[in-house]
Amino acid sequence: MADHPLITHKLTVMRDQRTPSPVFRQLTEELVTLLAYEATRNVRVTPVEIQTPVTSTIGVRIGDPRPLVVPILRAGLGMLDGMVKLLPSAEVGFLGMARNEETLEPTTYAERLPEDLSDRECFVLDPMLATGGSLGAAMDFLFRRGAKDVTAICLLAAPEGVAAIEKQVEGRDVTLVLGALDERLNEKGYIVPGLGDAGDRLYGTV
Ligand code: URA
Repeated sequence: MADHPLITHKLTVMRDQRTPSPVFRQLTEELVTLLAYEATRNVRVTPVEIQTPVTSTIGVRIGDPRPLVVPILRAGLGMLDGMVKLLPSAEVGFLGMARNEETLEPTTYAERLPEDLSDRECFVLDPMLATGGSLGAAMDFLFRRGAKDVTAICLLAAPEGVAAIEKQVEGRDVTLVLGALDERLNEKGYIVPGLGDAGDRLYGTV
């Protein structure tokens, strides 16, 4: 879990119901960039030799194969710019997961990903880890395609969602990077205190 005053400050403004969509979107982007820094701490690199104006030296290049960034539609899309700002060489794939508001079960309604994810490092973007249903299903999808490891970046999480993911991905190489871990889920599956529906807040539907 990220623990930094900048992150807590941005989250506080995002939680405030008076914050309008344009500000919410901007803060989402900034927050994701900060979380992406943490999430890419162990990203795979290849040594490269370069020539400085003074001498030759060994540095690193990210990639080979390129990391794959997967925003979960729709709200994860609001996190994409913040992520690729820090990881411009990444490939981007898309996964559309919707939650049935009555059963709270996830369903896949869109998928645009490489067929073979063998040896790929995947970064899933999903702002709200609530029940863990859609994120768990997305991770499952990526591992069935051969993903090497999956790192999920979430703005907020509920303990119930974290526990569900831990149970579902046991034995897999999974990392969760969270802006904050909130108190609980309410009876409607919303994170408490949370920030409401992230998709609605991002896209101005409230
Ligand atoms: N999805 C959201 O957008 N918000 C929540 O609180 C839970 C799930």
